[in-house]
Amino acid sequence: MTMNIELLEQSFSTVKASSADFTKTFYANLFADYPEVEPLFANAHMEAQGQKLFDSLVLTIDSLRKPDVLTATLKGLGTRHIKYGVLPQHYPMVGSSLLKSLESALGTDWTEEVKQAWIEAYTAVAQLMLDGADKLES
Ligand code: HEM
Repeated sequence: MTMNIELLEQSFSTVKASSADFTKTFYANLFADYPEVEPLFANAHMEAQGQKLFDSLVLTIDSLRKPDVLTATLKGLGTRHIKYGVLPQHYPMVGSSLLKSLESALGTDWTEEVKQAWIEAYTAVAQLMLDGADKLES
């Protein structure tokens, strides 16, 4: 996995400082742009859900320098997402809402370079989760 780790760490430290607002914005963006995924979260306690999503982002960013740990964690997470009713086509939706939320959180710090770093990171994370999802089906 090649990622611009320093840029990701730097930009994420800004978001970390306001994690509750960030996750709220993220789900608001996701459900406004892709109402079809809202039913998947019918049984979720949204505040706890936001915290879990944020924790896994923290874990991902913290593990960027430990690719073995990251790979195993994300494959396991992807396997569990099958049980939540998540399909491969939902991943780009979450990715686009994530980028939108990062953009509003970072303001002028959301540069083209930062954007590219997050696109690459999310694509790699989603691919590992989907690899984990395939494993269960085969
Ligand atoms: C980078 C991608 C993603 C990350 C890091 C992530 C992270 C998480 C985490 C940490 C949990 C808590 C449960 C667990 O650990 O198994 C969770 C649950 C869940 N995620 Fe994701 N997720 C991602 C993508 C998606 C996508 C694409 C969808 C579909 C729209 C989705 C929908 C859900 C649902 C429905 C639950 C269960 C909620 C509940 O009923 O409690 N996730 N996710």
